[in-house]
Amino acid sequence: MIEYDKDAIVHSYITGFLRAKIRQSDPLLLSLEEYASEHSVPIAEPETARFISVLSRACKAERILEIGTAVGYSAIVMAKASGAEVVSVENNHEMAELARENIRRAGLSDKITVVEADAKTCLSEISGPFDMIFLDGPKAHYIYMLGDCISLLRTGGLLVADNVLYKGMIADKAHVVRRKITIVKRLRKFIDALMEHPQLETAILPLGDGVTVSVKIQGEDV
Ligand SMILES: C[S@@+](CC[C@H](N)C(=O)[O-])C[C@H]1O[C@@H](n2cnc3c(N)ncnc32)[C@H](O)[C@@H]1O
Repeated sequence: MIEYDKDAIVHSYITGFLRAKIRQSDPLLLSLEEYASEHSVPIAEPETARFISVLSRACKAERILEIGTAVGYSAIVMAKASGAEVVSVENNHEMAELARENIRRAGLSDKITVVEADAKTCLSEISGPFDMIFLDGPKAHYIYMLGDCISLLRTGGLLVADNVLYKGMIADKAHVVRRKITIVKRLRKFIDALMEHPQLETAILPLGDGVTVSVKIQGEDV
């Protein structure tokens, strides 16, 4: 069992405060949060879920791409908030089936499509453009998916990536857990690539496990 520093990014008293303010009122989303907690399924933290909900509304998203569906929690959050069509990629068959069932329970089967595929290889086959992309799949592969994500995003669209500060390990050597060194190195490269990319302007937020928000700006394809 790896011990992480739970306060590495945000002090727990702040997290407690934020979560007390958010309070989940949707019974299905609440049941998914409980299911994820009981079964150790990593879903977006409540404050991150609220953030992508707000962003999806703010950018008036009509099409959203998500990488990493899990039980369908964040896909449902974004579809409910924005009314957008959501395409969500998941490579685990059981998860994809569970997500489809939850999406059916949410009455959103006509809005959310779960694509059962490996996001490392399928992105070039997906048709864009998207108004928003939520990158929440395999962390060590964000860096390799960045090019496809930018190509799939419309100019002015948002690329949001979760877990980019990875329990504090990205910013501080003392927090690095040996077994996670490859993920840490690649997430650091991912952040650098976002910050240096001529077609992106990126903010890094110490929210939840660390979130980046990038807007695609006009620029030459690289
Ligand atoms: C953090 S969870 C997604 C949580 C979800 N976005 C939410 O907040 O409700 C990451 C998911 O990505 C999936 N995943 C991992 N590697 C993948 C890959 N190569 N292609 C597609 N999905 C992948 C995992 O099975 C897992 O369900």
